[in-house]
Amino acid sequence: MKVLVACEESQRVCIELRKLGHDAYSCDILPCSGGHPEWHIQDDVLKHLNDGWDLMIAHPPCTYLSRAGARWLHQGGKINQERYAKGLEAKDFFLKLLSANILKIAIENPTPLKTYLLPKHTQVIQPYMFGHRFSKKTLLWLKNLPELKATDLIKDYSPFLPSNTGGKKRGQKFKIKDVVRDQKEASKTFQGIAQAMSKQWTMEVKSGCDANDDGIPPNNKLLGILPNEL
Ligand SMILES: C[S@@+](CC[C@H](N)C(=O)[O-])C[C@H]1O[C@@H](n2cnc3c(N)ncnc32)[C@H](O)[C@@H]1O
Repeated sequence: MKVLVACEESQRVCIELRKLGHDAYSCDILPCSGGHPEWHIQDDVLKHLNDGWDLMIAHPPCTYLSRAGARWLHQGGKINQERYAKGLEAKDFFLKLLSANILKIAIENPTPLKTYLLPKHTQVIQPYMFGHRFSKKTLLWLKNLPELKATDLIKDYSPFLPSNTGGKKRGQKFKIKDVVRDQKEASKTFQGIAQAMSKQWTMEVKSGCDANDDGIPPNNKLLGILPNEL
């Protein structure tokens, strides 16, 4: 398959796809850190959406959209207008990816702020479902793709990112040690998730893509996509 891994500098998903024999490219405005510049498009991904991809897996920036940033948006009972405008820009970028003319699309992001009214996500995943001893709630928006299946469920896990919302009270099990790292490091896709995405989304899978009586695949119904928009 010809696959675009949008907003990926680490090349983690791209490399897993290449191992499986796919014609995969990462694309990011930053240079790649994965060691394969020959598979990297260093550019604005919006210029490359119409290059004939079968599948796009996208990891758009979440700094201004994520619920974790709520305390910066609402300050002293008022909305920070500058930050709000950046959130709207990020939403516009997200929606351009989601509505790209590519048959199979997956977008990954943390829980967004309600203020921005993003379409409903399809699935929630966690690194501990894919062999990592961490929690980091991650949402997936899927078009014509099946939900990801857990590959290696880890029962003892700790938060990947420090909580600023009373995690201790909610019974987080571990003390946060060796805690992350810089923002770039923290946003790299977990290896187990990269492997699951590459394998499960390039297989011929029926479940999750099957049409119902009304002819609309379940994932698309969630996103409000009609058959004539496919
Ligand atoms: C949340 S990080 C995702 C990192 C990814 N999970 C990885 O493993 O490399 C978002 C990425 O989007 C990139 N980005 C932001 N705007 C972009 C654009 N217009 N085109 C391509 N990449 C962009 C950023 O440079 C950043 O690397």
